[in-house]
Amino acid sequence: TDSTPEYETADVLVVGSGIAGCAAALGAAREGAEVLLLTKASRPDDASTDWAQGGISTTRGDPESLKEDVLAASDGTADPAAVDVLVADADDAVSDVLVDTLEIAFDETDDGAFDYTREAAHSVRRILHVDAATGTHILRPFLNHLDEHEAVEVRQDTAALELLTHEGRVHGVVSDETEDGHPIYAGATILATGGIGALYPRSTNPDDATGDGIAMAALAGADVADMEYVQFHPTAFDGDDPFLLSEALRGEGAVLRNAEGEQFMDEYHPQGDLAPRDVVARAVETEREATGEVVLDVSTLEGDFETEFPTIAEMVHERGIEGDEIPVAPCEHFLCGGIDVDHRGHSSLDRLYAVGECSRTGVHGANRLASTSLLEGLVWGLRAGDDAAAVATDADLESDATGVEAPDLLNRDPDLPRRFAAEKFTRLQRTMDEYLGLERDPAEIARASAVLRRLKGEVDAYIRTRTARDLYELRNASVVALLIARAASENTESTGCHYVTDGEEAATRPADD
Ligand code: SIN
Repeated sequence: TDSTPEYETADVLVVGSGIAGCAAALGAAREGAEVLLLTKASRPDDASTDWAQGGISTTRGDPESLKEDVLAASDGTADPAAVDVLVADADDAVSDVLVDTLEIAFDETDDGAFDYTREAAHSVRRILHVDAATGTHILRPFLNHLDEHEAVEVRQDTAALELLTHEGRVHGVVSDETEDGHPIYAGATILATGGIGALYPRSTNPDDATGDGIAMAALAGADVADMEYVQFHPTAFDGDDPFLLSEALRGEGAVLRNAEGEQFMDEYHPQGDLAPRDVVARAVETEREATGEVVLDVSTLEGDFETEFPTIAEMVHERGIEGDEIPVAPCEHFLCGGIDVDHRGHSSLDRLYAVGECSRTGVHGANRLASTSLLEGLVWGLRAGDDAAAVATDADLESDATGVEAPDLLNRDPDLPRRFAAEKFTRLQRTMDEYLGLERDPAEIARASAVLRRLKGEVDAYIRTRTARDLYELRNASVVALLIARAASENTESTGCHYVTDGEEAATRPADD
């Protein structure tokens, strides 16, 4: 029924079209590789990067100071050697790719200098931004640039379903371009599939953030790490369809208040409203439970809300909020762990790389510092792309294509699986929300593991008979959920985003101590 060839080849195959995938494609193409970039989104710019608000951190010429802030925000759990890589490459990567190549017009002051902003747990102003819609302003020019690059093909509406593996080496992926699965053999494969927001009912990620890369890599035997560190953003709009109220708002003077109008953060942490994100998220939840509501008060901003944050102001007004007080609640935001990689983005499997949110570089430890995710994606994307191009040149793709057997995927029947997947997804989200959210206790983690294991069993039985993207997304989400549950059960210590309680009422208000 279609004319898609039996299989395809690429020097470097990238899966995912956010900043990390784009940087990987650029890095590989600059080294002379032919790059194929797949994204399951129907518009390539529909990636988490497009939703990123606050900005991208630089070091502003002081790498040591950024390193100290990253380590402090992670409560000393980030890997210093990985942070050294981040801060050493940061300013060159930003100026080479974002400023010189893509010519992104970061906001400037009246005298034409960069208008650096600040976010929580940053000791100085060092974050470049465009309004508080920085991700959009980076990603669209990046994709346009790749479109014009003759060595890069960006293919949308194409999901990778499985990795092709043979004797510990990864040889590409099977995509869903044909009914029984379309093999794409590659000299090197780079996963840049982003986060896991779809595992939770409320998230700041796009709906299709189902952890695909992490699940595919783990199923192929790659090491994953730090999966218990799921970061919740403290200030998402408190409603059914939450969106982010950037930390840059607090960086510029907005404050949190409880239902009694009290500014409470000073009681929880010496950095007050600018404390590390995990601390603020738990404090917001505690105050919501104790007083009924928490709002972000934008009347204390140094500048004017509508002028300085037009995109956020518009979203707030669309929800019918006209005053200065915006109701907020924590919401799943970012996975600090993922596929374990080295300083070049290489995983524990030969010829498999991972970059961006799906990877675990060690930079974030147990709690990520604001505005380091776009930066990590850019820095590790370029590094992995460069390395993958070198590795790919000595691959023998034709012999791969004959030597590696593609898994036999059965034909699609979209309607049944869609209903099955939707129903199971609701169960999965409810389980994650109840048992693996901001606070966890050992009995709840064990309950979650049992529910998730059963669910994964049902999905595995079903997937053997039908192939559809929804089912693979559900399988991926259930694999990732189980990895989170397992990591959470093995780590009995509260650190950063992983907050273990004894089953009693968890975080008490400081005044109640
Ligand atoms: C924000 O704008 O608050 C998000 C920044 C981030 O997650 O790094």
